[in-house]
Amino acid sequence: MNAGIIGIGKYVPEKVVTNFDLEKIMDTSDEWIRTRTGIEERHFAADDQDTSDLAVAAAKEAMAKAGITPEEIGLILVATVTQDQNFPSVACMVQEKLGAVNAAAMDQAAACAGFIYSLVTAKQFVEANAYKYVLVVGVEKLSKVIDWKDRNTAVLFGDGASAAIVGQVSEGRGILSFELGADGTGGKNLYLTPQDTIAMNGREVFKFAVRQMGESAVNVLDKAGLTKEDVDFLVPHQANIRIMESARERLELPPEKMSKTIQKYGNTSAASIGISLVDELEAGRIKEDDLLVLVGFGGGLTWGAVAMRWGK
Ligand code: UT7
Repeated sequence: MNAGIIGIGKYVPEKVVTNFDLEKIMDTSDEWIRTRTGIEERHFAADDQDTSDLAVAAAKEAMAKAGITPEEIGLILVATVTQDQNFPSVACMVQEKLGAVNAAAMDQAAACAGFIYSLVTAKQFVEANAYKYVLVVGVEKLSKVIDWKDRNTAVLFGDGASAAIVGQVSEGRGILSFELGADGTGGKNLYLTPQDTIAMNGREVFKFAVRQMGESAVNVLDKAGLTKEDVDFLVPHQANIRIMESARERLELPPEKMSKTIQKYGNTSAASIGISLVDELEAGRIKEDDLLVLVGFGGGLTWGAVAMRWGK
């Protein structure tokens, strides 16, 4: 049996904050942010919108696309590092808000690699025949942990959610191979301070990301018995355009075969890969039977990649 994504949705909050808005409140410039990161604007959630609200909006769209009811979901996995509160988990809040009364629920914390970690976890449960449908959500409200005194990090992040229903797909489709990894020795380079703000050694994370994104992408192709030439589309975690470009070059793909949504949303951590998938599907750049490589990295440090044949 093969597991794959049978429905996918996203939600970004209404409020848009441009680089020009940030210029007014800190010592930065649109020019620096655009050229160093690729970001032009990001979305921030309203004060009365928390992580679980963003998650529910994306989950409803994913369920509608998959054509399933909340009662049919067996497990909810929420990848996030910005929970509404430490517990109950966001997954339990989503379970309640959706009325997914038959679902077990838990959060998974792998930072920006979270969507891949949860997707791969979901695959195991579906292929073991334990659950027919698993709801995977990648969601962050990073605006609540931004350190507004630190221009190195404050300009990078945005809020958003993506959700996928993972279920059985036809032979040859779905998640063909995966790689997950972690290096706790790098935890000090990207973390949440006791004051609940993000701290990062950008240069160290940058070096790690450039190395790891390329390696993981190549590794999942090897594991699936495929080569770079087989890849139709690359969906990298949207953290920095220069990191994304290095992964694309490693796979020797032309620019039009890589998802680039960072300019609209900034770095939405666990949400970014799923948000990109939705936008690329809507734009018609990802089609049935395309071979996709999804690859991400994040705090932990963590990383993950999958090779996936798109379609049910
Ligand atoms: O999802 C995973 C999370 N994290 C990442 O993916 C981040 C990985 N790292 C990066 O993306 C990059 O390292 C950054 C975008 C964070 C920084 O880019 P950089 O090219 O590595 O810049 P830098 O840290 O070497 O700083 C270059 C200069 C510095 O000034 P001086 O010391 O050369 O005078 C910074 O103070 O840029 C300055 N700078 C800024 N200037 C204007 C740093 N942030 C800003 C800013 N506006 N917002």
